[in-house]
Amino acid sequence: MAQKIHILPGEVVNRIAAGEVVERPASVVKELIENAIDARGTEISILIDDGGLRRIRVIDNGTGMGRTDALTAFQRYATSKIKASDDLGMIQTLGFRGEALPSIASVSRVKMITKEEQSLSGVEIRLEGGGVKEIRDVGCPRGTDVLVEDLFFNTPARRKFLRAVSTEFSHIMEAVVRIAMAYRGVHFKLFHNEKRIFDLPTAKDRSVRIGSLLGNEVHRVLHQVKVKIEKLEIEGYVSEPGFSRPNARGIYVYVNGRFVRDRTIHHAVMEGYRNRIAKDRYPVVVLFLQVPPWSLDVNVHPTKSEVRFGSPGLIHQGVIELFHDFESTPVKPFEPEPIPAREFSIPPLAVKESTTDYNSVSQASRPGRGPDDEGSRVELFEETLSSLRILGQLDQTYIVCESPRGLLLVDQHAAHERIVFHRLKQAVDRGGPQVQRLLLPETVEFSPLEWDAVERYLPQLAGLGFDLEPFGRNTVVIRSVPSILSGKDCSQIVSDLLRDLIEQEARSGIDKNIEAVLKVIACHGAIRSGQPLSKEEMRTLLEEMKEEGFFYTCPHGRPACREIDTLQLEKMFMRKS
Ligand SMILES: Nc1ncnc2c1ncn2[C@@H]1O[C@H](COP(=O)(O)OP(=O)(O)OP(=O)(O)O)[C@@H](O)[C@H]1O
Ligand SMILES: [Mg+2]
Repeated sequence: MAQKIHILPGEVVNRIAAGEVVERPASVVKELIENAIDARGTEISILIDDGGLRRIRVIDNGTGMGRTDALTAFQRYATSKIKASDDLGMIQTLGFRGEALPSIASVSRVKMITKEEQSLSGVEIRLEGGGVKEIRDVGCPRGTDVLVEDLFFNTPARRKFLRAVSTEFSHIMEAVVRIAMAYRGVHFKLFHNEKRIFDLPTAKDRSVRIGSLLGNEVHRVLHQVKVKIEKLEIEGYVSEPGFSRPNARGIYVYVNGRFVRDRTIHHAVMEGYRNRIAKDRYPVVVLFLQVPPWSLDVNVHPTKSEVRFGSPGLIHQGVIELFHDFESTPVKPFEPEPIPAREFSIPPLAVKESTTDYNSVSQASRPGRGPDDEGSRVELFEETLSSLRILGQLDQTYIVCESPRGLLLVDQHAAHERIVFHRLKQAVDRGGPQVQRLLLPETVEFSPLEWDAVERYLPQLAGLGFDLEPFGRNTVVIRSVPSILSGKDCSQIVSDLLRDLIEQEARSGIDKNIEAVLKVIACHGAIRSGQPLSKEEMRTLLEEMKEEGFFYTCPHGRPACREIDTLQLEKMFMRKS
């Protein structure tokens, strides 16, 4: 019988491995910067073209490599960082698997120039799809310069999954920020399409670096915290309780210099803020944990972004302890380096005709028995609205009513969100929402990194009634907002709105569709869950629901109200079978 099983050729193996290590351009950037740091580079320049889809170049002034090492580096499992299995318990470097360079090279065109201090000349290697095309001696300074072009040129399926340039670049920025935050002794420069995005000289202490990356507004509210228990040392910066963000992107956790995502730590951070921060809001926290390398497994995840602790309980306890008296030491304000102005091209926001009818709902989210009874349910609601008896508010989230048929529960946020969304949508269709000028213009400050995206969104938001103008360094001044938002905390809404848009863009590429933006505005303009409401306010909300036409769901498709009829109640209590 012919042999059916065979060992895959090296280039196929590398390409398979690359699938795990190199997910998108940002993964390449991360790996190359990590190599530069492991090589003790103190000046690292990152040059990106077209969100890394066309070109990624990372230059360092580290130790460099000799000719043989430079060639070996592109072989799988070739590393200078560990030698034997015992070394896995002693890892002090960011890399250790010897997988990054061969993985990157197998799915792109690479040119690497490198030179050690003592060598007279450097070496240049060119590879394509992992195969070496050329190697020659060149004159160059000490250090390493890696150029990666046409990522995924030979894996079209993977290339197809890449997003818009702006989305890929926002992932790259996040990758650079994560590393730059932890290495204040390294001078980082980041360029996109030859524009300087940032230039971070070495910082005298961690808080200065954090301030340069996250902005003055965040820096002002940070408090320094420290804890030492047994062999665990934690140092960090945590935002004061009055300050919050709409998402958890401001939580940065490092273990032995490596950025990680860790549930235990995240949980402990949120525990630390329990009762100090509103529901569904997040702090800004930057934590540096130092543990003995032998008590940590870093070989858990292909991108090395997860670790396993020998004693997770101790880690949890340590992080919680950070918050015991963290209000005591505010960080001194600092003056960040000036960042030059840049020009941006702003894609117009296309107003896409909606393909969904706002009053129609998906079957899954519809209460009741099935699609056919929507009509009758609408009537039922209209008919019963006047006869609804408001019983009260449950968990500061639901309005509980007695209806002629049973029990009606309304999710106050989902219902109001839908009302606000519907009104905004109508206003946009009529040529633009009514605008409320602020008597006293308010300002919102963004971080230097967010500013790039913020400037792109300003013209889009102008068409929706937000008069926002750039005002000095990374700051916008709010002159007017859609009047539907009047009386709300405008600076908080504008801050959340823009940060949500940035987050969405990073996650899935911003749907350049007005509806997506309206949903975010509606979400922020609506009554929140956890907000106590008077009977009068509950009644007004129900009346507004009726005025806007009946609906069962919020704009995101979550249910806005549910009815439990008496028959169901009787079944629940086994009065009827
Ligand atoms: N910028 C650099 N300067 C000096 N040496 C480098 C540089 N980049 C890579 N090397 C050398 O090439 C080797 C292979 O790099 P590669 O990134 O593939 O593996 P690694 O860093 O050892 O492990 P990992 O796959 O976990 O990143 C490294 O161990 C290091 O010796
Ligand atoms: Mg590496």
